Amino acid sequence: AFEVKNLLGTAGMVTLDPGFGNTASCKSEITYIDGAAGILRYRGYSIQDLATGSSFLEVCYLLIKGRLPEAAELKEFADELRSNAELPAGMADMLNAFPRNAHPMTLLASSVNTLSAFYADSVDPQDPAQVDLATTRLLAKLPTIAAHIYRNSIGETPIAPDPSLDYVENFLNMTFGSAKPEGEVGELFAKAMDLLLILHADHEQNCSTATVRVVGSSQADLYGSVSAGINALFGPLHGGANQAVLEMLEQIREMGGDLDAFLAQVKDRESKTRLMGFGHRVYKNFDPRSREIKGLARQILDRQERPDELFELALQLEDKALADPYFTERKLYPNVDFFTGVIYRAMGFPTSMFTVLFAIGRLPGWIAHWREQLNDPATRISRPRQLYVGPGERAYPGRA
Ligand code: ACO
Repeated sequence: AFEVKNLLGTAGMVTLDPGFGNTASCKSEITYIDGAAGILRYRGYSIQDLATGSSFLEVCYLLIKGRLPEAAELKEFADELRSNAELPAGMADMLNAFPRNAHPMTLLASSVNTLSAFYADSVDPQDPAQVDLATTRLLAKLPTIAAHIYRNSIGETPIAPDPSLDYVENFLNMTFGSAKPEGEVGELFAKAMDLLLILHADHEQNCSTATVRVVGSSQADLYGSVSAGINALFGPLHGGANQAVLEMLEQIREMGGDLDAFLAQVKDRESKTRLMGFGHRVYKNFDPRSREIKGLARQILDRQERPDELFELALQLEDKALADPYFTERKLYPNVDFFTGVIYRAMGFPTSMFTVLFAIGRLPGWIAHWREQLNDPATRISRPRQLYVGPGERAYPGRA
């Protein structure tokens, strides 16, 4: 703790906590994490139970409304999203005007921000009906926007949402169209996508959720707050890690698959290279999501005719790192992103779409936190303090 003058000029104590590693900014009822024991629960339900028993839409409902839906409520919720999945008039033109080679995350954040321009009838945080409308529109339209961005990037015509399909199937259909696998493989991919979305749905005060809350604390609207969260997620130390992991594996393959040489580079502090997909601010033992995802990766990749070279590399890299004191001493273990990339790749997504898939999964968490904060009487505008370490008063040249 440091003593500084507060804004009124009187002395007070502030703590210096870079990265807020020890600072709670709020009380929350949404997600519980015990980093030492590797426990993750949404609204009290274990991630393992939700992963095996739930659907992503059920988890969205749970996170946002605080309880699991009855069957009729879930149907009504799903129907509402189905009927709101179309893009607003004008948004397609806007998306089509963006450079085709722009990163999909940049386009996603920009498009979500403009939802407040297209839907000015749902931007007042003080009106609960408008907040509900913005919630529905965001959940319903984010997959449509994401698929449209992808189709544009590959020079294919975007595909309109199909109200006869469920949430995940509709997204896969809008993304891959006739190239979407049918039958058993199609079902497996839809199930895998649903599970990955569940595993990414919330993670308490991570960088992007904390961003959504900081922006929302100024009473900015939901669309703008979520757009800020998408930009925070884009960074390679956060959601962008899933893309970075795959790029790292490709780089190792290009280096001739020499894992020891790569790990030596990571351990050389001068190189500033990190083992992407390893380490976590909260999990210092194991990340329960990574176990679920590793199992899923096996299920999907074992079905391929030939072994997946990058998956094999990832497995060997994991083994080597887990046996290396550099990583064990620092409590660095595989996180949620270590194996997601190889799954998305097997499903046919290009690397640049990986973080977009994370954003679709994390959306209900962002919304739940934004709404919780809005209804919490203890909420104050986010405004951290600092310790000023610059020069004292200086005479401006020529005015001494
Ligand atoms: N590879 C090599 N060394 C690492 C790694 C890594 N992936 N992660 C941390 N370290 C080292 C640091 O160099 C540091 O070493 P030191 O004590 O000798 O200086 C020590 O471990 C602690 O690292 P911090 O950066 O202080 O840990 P922090 O909690 O701030 O960072 C983070 C957590 C950002 C996740 C970090 O582990 C990292 O950069 N991982 C790689 C990127 C990644 O996979 N991000 C996804 C996280 S999950 C998510 O956001 C969805």
